[in-house]
Amino acid sequence: MMDFIPSQRPGESRELSSVDRDLERYLREEFGYSGTQLAYVLRDLKILLKREKLKTRELETAYQQMLRYAEDLRKSYLHERRQREQLIQSQRATAITLAKAIEKRDRYTGGHTDRVTEYAKLTAKLLDWPEERLAVLELAGHLHDVGKIGVPDAVLNKPGKLTVEEFEMMKAHPEIGEQIIRGIDFLEALVPYVLYHHERYDGKGYPKGLSGEAIPIEGRLLAVSDTFDAMTSSRPYRKQLDPERAIEEIKRCSGTQFDPNIVVVFLEIWRAGLLDPILLGTSPLPPDPAS
Ligand SMILES: [Fe+2]
Repeated sequence: MMDFIPSQRPGESRELSSVDRDLERYLREEFGYSGTQLAYVLRDLKILLKREKLKTRELETAYQQMLRYAEDLRKSYLHERRQREQLIQSQRATAITLAKAIEKRDRYTGGHTDRVTEYAKLTAKLLDWPEERLAVLELAGHLHDVGKIGVPDAVLNKPGKLTVEEFEMMKAHPEIGEQIIRGIDFLEALVPYVLYHHERYDGKGYPKGLSGEAIPIEGRLLAVSDTFDAMTSSRPYRKQLDPERAIEEIKRCSGTQFDPNIVVVFLEIWRAGLLDPILLGTSPLPPDPAS
C-alpha cells in the first residue's frame, strides 16, 4: 500500500501539493475511482489533509511551549539544588569551625574529633549506613563534645585526677550539648550522638543510665570510637595506650561498656588495618604550661 498519510510528528506535515499525484493514483488503482467521483473524493481528502496540517501546526506550537516549560523547570530545579548544596556546605563549615574552636580550649584533645569521626565513619560504613546518615555522623563526630563549652577551663584542663565534684561538672557535657543544638534545624539530627555517647551497654553510663538497645545506635556506635581515641591519646590523668592494648580493652568491655555488635565491627576494621592511618595522627602529650 502506498504511504500518502502525512506524519503525525510535529513539524513533519507534508504539503498538499506534494501528495496530490500519489493520492490520485492511489484512489484510481485501489478503489477504482474516476471522473466526478474521483474529484469529490479528492476534494474531501484534501480538506481532511488541510485540517490535519493545521492540527499538526497547533501540536508543534504546544510541543515547543512544553519544551520551554521543561527547560524553565530544569533551570529552577538546578538553581534550587545549587542553593541547597551551598547552604549545606556553609552549615557544615560553621559546625566544624565551632567544633574546632571548642577543641582549642582543651589542650589535651587536639585532633580528637577528627579521629573519632573517622573511626565512627569506618564503623558505620561497614554497617552499610546510607550516605545521608553518614553525613549526619560526620557532623556529629565533630560536635559530639559541644557541651564541653559549659565545662570550666580549670576542670577541662586539670592535669590531675578530677574530684567527684569536678567529674560531675564534666558529666554534664552531653546534656549541655543537647541544650545547645536542640532547636537548631540542621543540628537537631545530632542529638542522639551528643546526648548518648557516654551511655554504657550495662546501664552504668551517663547522663540517662540507659542500657542495651534502649541506647540509640548513634550513641552506642560513637562510644566505641570515642573511647578508643581517648585511650590511644594522652590525657591529663594518664599516658596514651598502645593501639593493641586499647583494642584489648575494647574487647574486654564488650557487653559491659560497649554494644558487642559494634565491637565486632570495630575489631574487623582494626584487623583490616583501616585504623592505622588515622592512628598516625595521634599526637603525644603537649607540654604542660603550668610545669
Ligand atoms: Fe564526650
